[in-house]
Amino acid sequence: MALRSVLLGVGSFLPERILTNEELAQSVDTNNEWIIERTGIRQRHIAGKNEKTSDLACAASLKALEASGRTADDIDLVIVATTTPDLTFPATAARVQAALGINKGAAFDLQAVCSGFIFALATADNALVRGQAKCALVIGAETFSRIVDWTDRGTCVLFGDGAGAVVLEAQERDDDRGVISTFLRTDGRMHDLLYVDGGPSETGTIGKVRMVGNAVFRNAVEHISGAMLEACARAGVSLDQVDWFVPHQANQRILDGVARKLDIAVDKVVSTVALHGNTSAASVPLALDVAVRDGRIKPGQLVLMEALGGGLTWGAALVRL
Ligand code: COA
Repeated sequence: MALRSVLLGVGSFLPERILTNEELAQSVDTNNEWIIERTGIRQRHIAGKNEKTSDLACAASLKALEASGRTADDIDLVIVATTTPDLTFPATAARVQAALGINKGAAFDLQAVCSGFIFALATADNALVRGQAKCALVIGAETFSRIVDWTDRGTCVLFGDGAGAVVLEAQERDDDRGVISTFLRTDGRMHDLLYVDGGPSETGTIGKVRMVGNAVFRNAVEHISGAMLEACARAGVSLDQVDWFVPHQANQRILDGVARKLDIAVDKVVSTVALHGNTSAASVPLALDVAVRDGRIKPGQLVLMEALGGGLTWGAALVRL
C-alpha cells in the first residue's frame, strides 16, 4: 500500500464569446487559410470584459467537483496555474477558495505559463503523497486575451481564454491508480523566446506577449518529446502502454511533429486546438475534460499529459485515471 494522488474528477469552462479566424482577419493582416494551415486553429473563446480568471476557474472547478463526488468541504489545497491573475496579489487561488466556500488548507497561484497545469499537478501530488493535504483542486485558468497584442499577427491568432480543473485525492492504494510520475524542467536562458514585455517590478505595466515563433516551435517539439520519454522512463512504462496523450494545445503542427518524432498514432492524441486555440495553463485540463466527457478516455486508462511554455518551461505527467 502507498499513498497516491488519485484524479477523481475533471471539469472545464469556456467563455461564451467565440472569435473566428474570419473575424480576426478583419482587424489584422491575416486570413483563415494561413491560420488553419500553420496552426490548425479555427476559433478561440474570449472572456467578457467583466469575466475574470477567477470566474473561469470557479466555473471549471464546480464541474470538476461535481464529477469527483467531492464537495468544497473536502478541499484543503487549491492551486491555480495562471499567467493572467485577476490582480498582482492576492493569489487568484485565494479568490477561488473564498468564492467556492473552501475554508481550510492553503491556496496559491503557480506561474509556469503554458506548462503551469503540469507544474501544479506535480506540486499538488507532492503535497498529497507527503500528507500535507488530503484533497486538492488543481486549476489551469487564463484570460490570456488580456495580454495579447491584437496588432501582432504572429501571436494574436494563437491564443484564447478558458479554464480546466481536476480534483486529486490522497488515497492508500495497492494499485497504480493516480499520478504515477512527473517531470518538470525550466531553462531560463531561453527567456527571450517567449515573454511578456511588462510586469509590476520592471515596467509597472501589464505588458503584452512577445514571441520568436519558429524558435519556440523547434524547442517545443524537442523538449515535449523529451519530457514525455522522461516521465515514462521514471515510471518504467513504454510509450506503447500509454492509452491517451493529452498535450498542451499550442499548434496542431507541434502535436503532429511530436507524434511523428515518437511514432505515436495520431488518434491517441487528444486535440482541441482547432476550437480552443492556445489557452496556456488551461489547455491541458480543458483537453482532458473534453476527452473524458466524450467517452474517449475511460477509467483505468493511462494518460500522458505534456506541455511547454514561456520560461522556457516544460514537463509531463503520467496518470492512471
Ligand atoms: N497571417 C499571415 N501571415 C503570417 C501570420 C499570420 N497570422 N503570422 C506570420 N505570418 C507570416 C510572417 O510574417 C512570415 O512572412 P514573411 O515570410 O513574408 O516574413 C511568414 O508568415 C512565415 O512566418 P513564420 O513565423 O516563419 O511562420 P511559421 O510557419 O513559423 O508559423 C507560428 C508561425 C507562430 C504559427 C509558429 O511559429 C508557431 O506556432 N510557433 C510556436 C508558437 C507557440 O506554440 N507558442 C506558444 C508556446 S506555449
